Formats: sequence, structure tokens, C-alpha cells
Amino acid sequence: MAVSPTLSSSKLLLFSLSGFVLFGLVSPSKFDELFQPSWALDHFIYEGEQLQLKLDNYSGAGFTSKSKYMFGKTTLQIKLIEGDSAGTVTAFYMSSDGPNHNEFDFEFLGNTTGEPYLVQTNIYVNGVGNREQRLNLWFDPTKDFHSYSLLWNQRQVVFLVDETPIRVFTNKERQGVAFPKDQAMGVYSSIWNADDWATQGGRVKTDWTHAPFVASYKGFQIDACECPVTAAVEENVKRCSASDKGYWWDNPVMSELSLHQSHQLMWVRANHLVYDYCMDSSRFTVAPPECDN
Ligand SMILES: *[C@@H]1O[C@H](CO)[C@@H](O)[C@H](O)[C@H]1NC(C)=O
Ligand SMILES: *[C@@H]1O[C@H](CO)[C@@H](O)[C@H](O)[C@H]1NC(C)=O
Repeated sequence: MAVSPTLSSSKLLLFSLSGFVLFGLVSPSKFDELFQPSWALDHFIYEGEQLQLKLDNYSGAGFTSKSKYMFGKTTLQIKLIEGDSAGTVTAFYMSSDGPNHNEFDFEFLGNTTGEPYLVQTNIYVNGVGNREQRLNLWFDPTKDFHSYSLLWNQRQVVFLVDETPIRVFTNKERQGVAFPKDQAMGVYSSIWNADDWATQGGRVKTDWTHAPFVASYKGFQIDACECPVTAAVEENVKRCSASDKGYWWDNPVMSELSLHQSHQLMWVRANHLVYDYCMDSSRFTVAPPECDN
């Protein structure tokens, strides 16, 4: 029986429990308070509170946060490319730098007109990825803005779509699985051509007669522990991991999904999951350790 993943009103409540703020309403910022273009400035279109990124046969475009962060929650509202988006990828991700980097990815794989987008997620820890999951959405992501969030604390990384969890990476350090917790991450988004693999396994190529391909953004939110670029790694870890700081994402209730959220996740997986590396025995003869429940 399908459970509807409707929003609860919790998002709008501001209350605290034993000194922790549980749910804060962080008002969205303007793009340039938090972000800056990282390439192809001439493929940015500013329209009031909205930003559009353009992909054409000349270039894609991308932006990056001005600061790096540890833990917290980052949300972008995105309206994906309308009509024919085959061959294109719109990405929203957090990443640290260096060869042993951590990364949390949303990649929106375009499709031909009327066919569903796929949302591919991946997680890199200490430079190791290969943790792809793919799902389709329960709405048309090209018709309206929807919110896509990454929630990160010491216990879990949660991917959310309109506040519905679609994926959880639980801290299983006790089982010997590395967990991202000591590298500050930037927030990134970009749009590019990936018609060698993105749509229907690369069989459908980008139709440039439909360019420019435009993704729209608004509601930029980063509620996280900011790490000055000049600070040493240990300083940032200290600043952002201290249990006495009372960060809302360190509240014990945030250490796992609520019962309601775990039902939502089950609903998403039962109805919308297309691929999960954990179930791909042709790739992994033994399922990776984080796949155990
Ligand atoms: C890119 O698209 C424009 C407009 O459709 C076209 O005039 C141009 O030749 C194309 N360039 C390349 C390199 O395909
Ligand atoms: C595109 O549509 C096809 C046909 O419905 C579907 O199999 C595929 O998963 C969709 N998404 C992508 C990115 O190929």
C-alpha cells in the first residue's frame, strides 16, 4: 500500500527540546550571498530571485559556494530542463577537495520529451565512490520548483526531495565502513552534456536543435557549520564536531530517520527505485559492507 509522501508541517515549526533547536526555518538567501559562478558566466541568467543556468553546444555552466562547510543541511530549489533534456545532466552536490575527497551527489539525468528524469545519487568517502542509486520521481520535476536537500551529521547523510528522504547513508564505522566527518565540503551545481552515458544508457544523444537547455534555481539555503578556508583541518573538526555547540543537526533525534521518514523512504524505494548498487551482484560479488542492514 502506497503511503503518500506529503509534507508534514514540521518544516514550519520552530521549537526546541533540551536546548536544541529541532527544526529551524532558515530563510532562503539570494544566490550571491552564498554562491558564485565557477565557469561560463555568460551562461548565467539572473531573473529576480531566480537564477538560470544554460547549456548549449558551446558550454554548460556551474556555480560553487563561497565557503566550505561541515555538517548541517543544504537545500536548493530546482526546476529542471523542460521538454527534451536527453543527454543533459544537472548536478547538485557537496564535495571536499583532494585525492581522498568526500562527495554527496544528486545527478538529474535528462530524457526525451515526456519520458521521466532519473535521479542518480552517489556517495564518495575517502575518494571511493561506486555507490550509485537511481530513482524516478513522483512528480514531473520540470513543471515546478522542488527542493533537493543534503542533510549531514555525525550519524548519517540523508538525501531529501521535498523533505522526503530518498536515501540514507548511515554511519557504520563500528562495522569498519568509513564515514565522512573530517573534511569541509563546498556546495556545487552545474549543468553539462553527458550524452555518452546519461540517457537510456547513452543510446539517446543530445539534440542540439533544442538548445539552450535551461535549469532554474531559487531558494538557496545552507544551514551548516562554516569552515573558514584558512582554518586548519583540526580547527574545523573541533569547531564543527563539538557536542557542546548545540547544533540542531547533532540533536539525538536527528541521528536517524523518524518513524514517519522511514515509512516515506520505504515508499520511495518500493515505488520509485530503479537501481541500487547494493543489489547489483554483477558488480559486487559480495555486497559492500555498508549495504547490510
Ligand atoms: C552550435 O549551435 C549554433 C546554433 O544552433 C550553430 O550555428 C553552430 O554551428 C553550432 N556549433 C557547433 C560547434 O556545433
Ligand atoms: C528515460 O525514459 C526511459 C523510457 O521511459 C527510461 O527507461 C529511462 O530510465 C529514463 N531516464 C533516463 C535518464 O534514461
